[in-house]
Amino acid sequence: MEERRGPGHQECGCPSAPHIARHFDAKVAERLAKCQDPSLVAVSQRLRDGLLRLDPAGRTVLELGCGRAALLLQLVQAGAARATGIDLSPASIDAARAAFERAQLSQCLDISVGDAARVPLEPHDWVILDRVICCYADVERLLANTQPAARHIYAFTVPSSRGWRGVAARLEEWLEGAWNRLHGRPCRGYVHDLDLIEERLSAAGFRLRRRDHDRLWHIAIYERAAES
Ligand SMILES: C[S@@+](CC[C@H](N)C(=O)[O-])C[C@H]1O[C@@H](n2cnc3c(N)ncnc32)[C@H](O)[C@@H]1O
Repeated sequence: MEERRGPGHQECGCPSAPHIARHFDAKVAERLAKCQDPSLVAVSQRLRDGLLRLDPAGRTVLELGCGRAALLLQLVQAGAARATGIDLSPASIDAARAAFERAQLSQCLDISVGDAARVPLEPHDWVILDRVICCYADVERLLANTQPAARHIYAFTVPSSRGWRGVAARLEEWLEGAWNRLHGRPCRGYVHDLDLIEERLSAAGFRLRRRDHDRLWHIAIYERAAES
């Protein structure tokens, strides 16, 4: 257990963090029991397609909230030089490590349990948060800790907070939270304000490279303004 923990794990004091870890540990256990392979849901596939168009060859990639690291694995298979994954869920980290072992790519992976909003992060070419920001209450802290780690690209997916998508996403998050509570896994989701996320990225020197939608999801790839 000890060797799986990343630097700063003792700082995982956010009240939501143990709930998140328990929730996703249970989900991963269910999926492993059903022998389900890690796969990318539709929104993650769209993000992947956008990232592949930027060509990951030779890039170092840091994924925060990497889950079973299906996206990281595909980016390494497409040529990324190195993948680093951090997740609050120890079961996800174990499954991610196993997936890289099966693909005989363990030498390309650094992976650890940790809170992306709190652990010290090394600079990487690309930083990715796919369906993660919406798990975490303190969006400001998560953005402030993760943005400086991106040398070139900062990519994320979140439920949209705008227009009809925002209304539907809030309803969906509320229903999912109620379902989780009913099943003894109190872990809620958040529809964070996209304006705030965009403001923080712009203030940190990023500009929008590509934006997309998949149903209620907003997909965005930002780059450092100086990198054009
Ligand atoms: C919905 S899953 C998405 C997993 C993966 N990115 C994917 O799209 O398949 C959210 C993941 O983010 C992790 N997570 C949530 N907040 C986190 C945080 N602050 N630090 C690290 N991991 C976090 C959860 O443990 C979970 O594995």
